[in-house]
Amino acid sequence: MLIYLLRLITNPTHVLLVIHKKYGDFIHTRFFNKTLVFVSNADYFQEIFSLEGRGSVNRDSLYQAKLTMFGNGLFNSKGDVWANQRKLMQPVFSKKVIGVWQDIILEEANIAVTRIEGLSHQEVNFSREIKAAVQKILIRLMFNSASSEKPDELLMRCVDVILEGLFPHFVTATLGKGRLKHLFFIRNRRMNKAVNYFKAYVEAEIQRKRGETEKLGLLAMMMDSLDKDGNGMTDQLLNDETVTLFLAGQDTTVNTLIWFFYLLGKNPDQQRRVIDEIKRLSELTLTLENIGQFKYTHAALYESMRLYPQAIALSRDAILPITLGGKELPTGTTLIMNIVESHRSPVYWEKPDQLYPEHFLNKQDRHKFAFIPFGAGMHSCIGRHLAEYEMMLIIITFLSRISVKTNLDVKPALSITLKPERDVILSATKINS
Ligand code: HEM
Repeated sequence: MLIYLLRLITNPTHVLLVIHKKYGDFIHTRFFNKTLVFVSNADYFQEIFSLEGRGSVNRDSLYQAKLTMFGNGLFNSKGDVWANQRKLMQPVFSKKVIGVWQDIILEEANIAVTRIEGLSHQEVNFSREIKAAVQKILIRLMFNSASSEKPDELLMRCVDVILEGLFPHFVTATLGKGRLKHLFFIRNRRMNKAVNYFKAYVEAEIQRKRGETEKLGLLAMMMDSLDKDGNGMTDQLLNDETVTLFLAGQDTTVNTLIWFFYLLGKNPDQQRRVIDEIKRLSELTLTLENIGQFKYTHAALYESMRLYPQAIALSRDAILPITLGGKELPTGTTLIMNIVESHRSPVYWEKPDQLYPEHFLNKQDRHKFAFIPFGAGMHSCIGRHLAEYEMMLIIITFLSRISVKTNLDVKPALSITLKPERDVILSATKINS
């Protein structure tokens, strides 16, 4: 077991995909003085989220490690601060609101696919193209900037530096009681510089918005959101929340889309069916309500999230003695929900390792917690509806104009999110209408 635990640091996806096959769906072990429990069964996930709702487990052990980057934004805050923030943020991400982003997303998706069309019959770096489009969309949604406004290159670089550094930062902050992090002072200095630049940029945007009469964009919506006593977020919380949204919303969306196009590039039959559906529904305006009609396309998107979930595992800590699956566990136990394993378990899926959209077309009696790419329970992804709408609009825009193909095999890399180990290059061909 020790060898698996050590390899968890260097190749977590592989380890998470093999340990349960060897040791069963409930693994109870110790590592660096910590009691660890790995679970891969949807019943256990459900129990853990319910324990979290009742306050017996939480995600707060990384609070200090996350503080520099996320402050008290939703991804890190706890207790009443989190509960109040969640209430203030919920309306900004509700289904009622996100339809307003349709034009911006479509505009940027069209710009991206026009650029790709210009490269048709050539190998296209999809990682680069998707990332550029999603970054631009996020910046425009957040600050309501115009398409013609060139995004601040340094801001985007800072987001990348922070995202790249997060995984080693968490590992070194956790192992050896945090002493390991002192060995990486150069990386820490780079991260701190990036965080400082990012926060100063957001602070300037907040002040700029305060002076505007008509405030538009996600940041403006957050500034206008008030609790029942008429109180809004402080500037500090607005800043923390904006940084949080960039860090939580960028790579998750980028990587999911890259895996989606990669998988379709390798599965021409499924791609044909997606393209046929998009053609058949081409007269529809792409409102949030109408998006629901693209059933096969949506099922294919869910398949890529099943095969490549952005959070391969979620962890929680017992802050009281708990009972899980009938077993008693002491305070301090770390519970690791192995999502990538449950997403590929033959217990829940007919064709676990294949792209098989039918999984989501005939899904009636599947366990509710067998597919949780957006997490579940009180901390489930607040950006889920926005992310799904954005991804569907990008996919529909792209695949109404191009098809993709690849023979290459790409593996996942070591990162805080499940990204491809290298840039995904696909050959793109214009679709003749
Ligand atoms: C494909 C895209 C996305 C995926 C797969 C994803 C996945 C997740 C997951 C698994 C969690 C739960 C983490 C936990 O339980 O510890 C989460 C939480 C969160 N996500 Fe997302 N996310 C996506 C997009 C977004 C977007 C676009 C935003 C905002 C712009 C966002 C903002 C957040 C925030 C703020 C939280 C923390 C919620 C809380 O603790 O109350 N996410 N996300």
